[in-house]
Amino acid sequence: VTDTEIDLALFGALGDLALRKLFPALYHLDREGLLPEGTRLVGLARQDLDGEAFRQQVAGALQQRVKSDEQDKTSLKRFLARLDYLKLDFSSVEGYEAVRAWREGSPRPMVVYLSVPARIYGDICRNLQASGSLDDSTRVVVEKPIGYDLASSQEINDVIGEVFPESRIYRIDHYLGKETVQNLIALRFANPLFGTQWNQNHISHVEITVAEQVGIEGRWGYFDQAGQLRDMVQNHLLQLLCLIAMDPPSNLDADAIRDEKVKVLKALKPFVGEALGRDVVRGQYTAGTSQGAAVPGYLEEEGANTDSHTETFVAMKTEVANWRWAGVPFYLRTGKRMPEKLSQIVIHFRQQPHYIFDPDQRSLAANKLIIRLQPEEGIALQVLTKDSGLDKGMRLRPGPLHLDFNNAFPKSRIPDAYERLLLEVMKGQQYLFVRRDEVEHAWRWCDQLIAGWEARDMPPRRYPAGSWGPVASIAMITQDGRSWYEDY
Ligand code: BG6
Repeated sequence: VTDTEIDLALFGALGDLALRKLFPALYHLDREGLLPEGTRLVGLARQDLDGEAFRQQVAGALQQRVKSDEQDKTSLKRFLARLDYLKLDFSSVEGYEAVRAWREGSPRPMVVYLSVPARIYGDICRNLQASGSLDDSTRVVVEKPIGYDLASSQEINDVIGEVFPESRIYRIDHYLGKETVQNLIALRFANPLFGTQWNQNHISHVEITVAEQVGIEGRWGYFDQAGQLRDMVQNHLLQLLCLIAMDPPSNLDADAIRDEKVKVLKALKPFVGEALGRDVVRGQYTAGTSQGAAVPGYLEEEGANTDSHTETFVAMKTEVANWRWAGVPFYLRTGKRMPEKLSQIVIHFRQQPHYIFDPDQRSLAANKLIIRLQPEEGIALQVLTKDSGLDKGMRLRPGPLHLDFNNAFPKSRIPDAYERLLLEVMKGQQYLFVRRDEVEHAWRWCDQLIAGWEARDMPPRRYPAGSWGPVASIAMITQDGRSWYEDY
């Protein structure tokens, strides 16, 4: 048995996430030789299927989701041969005996992946324990959303914590598995050039944009209870913010990194009083266009409650109140039905203390570091050079020093976030997973904002689908003499 060999028990094996993301990711790991020979997987779901029918469903999903030039027969066959299926009523302890039997005599640790709604985590964990399916090496992987607010997240974490110690709980935030997000750690802590500049003396402000082109995609029921703040900011955007703002960890151990992230979350300024109206903009999309086609507004989507005040967009200006970042605004925005899918972080460096070039170009004269997650992953540093040509004098020209991962490292395929995360679970490494206190501090901060919205009864502002959000979100940054940066 090698270090990364596991028995994977996947609860919710016929669900959307499993078919769309988890099986393709596992297939790719297998194809790249990263699934040791003994690794096997049992899919668990309520449907009445036998192993063969299950393998066929997974094969169908792989055919749809994996690029055709990456589907090769040998790898597919080897991967499918690892899969078993168990029909299970998750809420009743009886069937769990079959899980224990599946594991019987295995020398490998078991990883339990809960790709199911959080309300049944408790049943599954307790039933696994009662049936004797667990031992001291079993790890558990859970998906967001971890709750709806601090109190509900604590309940969920308590239920898992009754059965598993924190050191064996892997809370997924799939943004942490994105290649560029990890590159942030390398960029910041391996490059003295950035390491020395990464503070309020040299950085004027930071932008984080996570714009999605999609709308609600048949998830109205879930989404309307959540809204963009809970669905995206509480987890993905705050995780990005933490990685940008945290102090250097003393090493790359999971807890060293997570301790630093927690300090950032604790230092985030709350929105109180006037800041609620001034520094946060909520939006909800109305009918408009997406990729040239007419699309309905949020309130006209299938299953919609036409009185809903749930936000599909949020923009905010916040600050990390500590020595490194005092006075540096962090502008965050994220929304559905934006003009394009664009996720990027822009670090704006301060200008030189004394300026000697063309006065008209003064506003140009600063560097930006753009860390792009989507659509294509890469890093660009905007620098100023002299415009070429005899007639240009000392005209400045901003231009990018680009690191396009696809071009710079053409042989390496950029793995999907889930590939990386599953690999880390197999290795038993937690640094890309979210610790309980991170989830809770993030909720604390979001909860006070939501309470403020509720107390003031602030309905969202409208924006047409296919636009960059409510005009007020643009005004929020332009009144500081800045603008949202959408180039690369
Ligand atoms: C999920 C949210 O966590 O992230 C979705 O629940 C969102 O609403 C998705 O669309 C975005 O992920 P990505 O990787 O496509 O940016």
